Amino acid sequence: RKIYVPADSCAIALGADKVAASLELQLGPEFNVIRNGSRGLFWLEPLIEVESEQGRIAYGPVLPDNIDEAFVNAVKSAGKHPLCLGLTEEIPELKCQQRLSFARLGITDPLNIDDYIAHGGFEGLHTALTLSAQEIVDEVQTSGLRGRGGAAFPTGIKWQTVLTTEASQKHIVCNADEGDSGTFADRLMMEGDPFCLIEGMIIAGLAVGADKGFIYLRSEYPRAATQLQQAIDIAEANHFLGNNIAGSDKCFRLELRIGAEAYICGEETSLLRSLEGKRGMVSAKPPIPAISGLMGQPTIVNNVITLASVPFILAKGAEHYQSFGLGRSRGTLAFQLAGNIKRGGLYEFAFGMSLRELVFDIAGGCRHGDAHAIQIGGPLGAYLPESLWDTELDYEAFATIEAGIGHGGIVLFNQDVNLAQQARFAMEFCAAESCGKCTPCRIGSTRGTEVMDRIIARQSTDQNLELLDDLCDTMELGSLCAMGGMTVIPVRSAKQHFPEDFHSGAQSRD
Ligand code: NAI
Ligand code: SF4
Repeated sequence: RKIYVPADSCAIALGADKVAASLELQLGPEFNVIRNGSRGLFWLEPLIEVESEQGRIAYGPVLPDNIDEAFVNAVKSAGKHPLCLGLTEEIPELKCQQRLSFARLGITDPLNIDDYIAHGGFEGLHTALTLSAQEIVDEVQTSGLRGRGGAAFPTGIKWQTVLTTEASQKHIVCNADEGDSGTFADRLMMEGDPFCLIEGMIIAGLAVGADKGFIYLRSEYPRAATQLQQAIDIAEANHFLGNNIAGSDKCFRLELRIGAEAYICGEETSLLRSLEGKRGMVSAKPPIPAISGLMGQPTIVNNVITLASVPFILAKGAEHYQSFGLGRSRGTLAFQLAGNIKRGGLYEFAFGMSLRELVFDIAGGCRHGDAHAIQIGGPLGAYLPESLWDTELDYEAFATIEAGIGHGGIVLFNQDVNLAQQARFAMEFCAAESCGKCTPCRIGSTRGTEVMDRIIARQSTDQNLELLDDLCDTMELGSLCAMGGMTVIPVRSAKQHFPEDFHSGAQSRD
């Protein structure tokens, strides 16, 4: 019988390795302990699953101290126990999701290629191998897929640019430098279903005529690094990477490269310089990487989830993918719920539900206290007050309220948060992470932190608020990249929607 204990970083941090070792010891040889990926239901981690005739039975959260005789007996019979959650697939927060890109997450053994294939793996690649490069790009265009890293640029248009640009060598680069605080979808994918990303990259290579790919991974994800490297080696050994992939006459090679803890290396031009072995500095666009990227050659730079969405699109058809969502936001997004929240984790849904539905009806709202503000789109995203929580999760709808969905990170705060302090944090974060190339960002963020300090200390508030507005305009208009340009979003939204924190001083709710 199979028993599943996640080997995802989140579950491991909560004791999953100890739980697995202890269960292995106590269950005996008739049980096969499989280390799966996380289902993304973080409040239930470590989430243990046992095979039964009805399906997998879940128990959670199972901490090392919970492994006693009663628990082992319950697991042996897939029977009752206070930690038993019933059938995994019936857990309401999982059952209601629309998992397309993350369909295999937590179900398969991440490094078992046969398991991957048994669950639909490489179906997209096999379809792609029957199509011309242009037909693959057309499929991606028709699907409506947009960049899931945050900018939401249409993936098909980017791929078309690379396909159309003539060059002797082209590259596929996966941006796995998931630097936004409160986000973890890339990590979950790389740790829990690494072959899916690899398959997406191979398809991208076929689509534009690139035979070389790189995954640029942040060094803060050591477990993802191990998983990816092993998955690459296994894919090579099984002829899905290298020469004659999947028995075809095509070849594709993949290398894993590790970054050095610089947030700015998530910006594509900076990332490419770092990949070339240079200092990670932003360069002006144009030229865009699709025309002149790695080593000056046409390069697709896509986020992990963008690439990992492609196998599903090719396997099930572009029309099917684009039947999810609304308007120009098609398909699904992996929302990552964090902060002061009852049921934080990964929720894959089609675009279109409201922020309120997702955060409160599904994820349960605040764990402690009353909800006060929601930040969406990472540290450079807007802080939204309750009056805007009914906004539909759709790129265009968010643009109309001067916010963005970004990479899908959503952080909930209760009434203890002071938004002036958060605005200061945005400036401080920018000052720490700025690559230093342009003045509005490098100097502006430092001055911005000082201005916020004065506002918080209630020194000449009106004058400093005016100065803050000027500074935000300068940073927005004068910064070379999104780092400086978008830092103003959390600052302005905090000031606009939570003015009381800027006028009364931060001390009141520290
Ligand atoms: P951008 O709008 O400059 O570019 C988006 C993408 O489209 C780029 O890859 C660009 O090269 C490409 N592109 C633009 N015009 C094109 C054309 N005509 N043909 C082909 N490709 C074209 O945005 P940028 O600066 O790349 O990203 C900013 C976003 O990054 C922000 O919205 C933010 O949400 C996100 N972000 C995400 C983080 C994460 O951890 N996932 C961290 C920090 C920021
Ligand atoms: Fe570098 Fe900031 Fe200028 Fe971007 S905006 S290029 S991070 S200094």
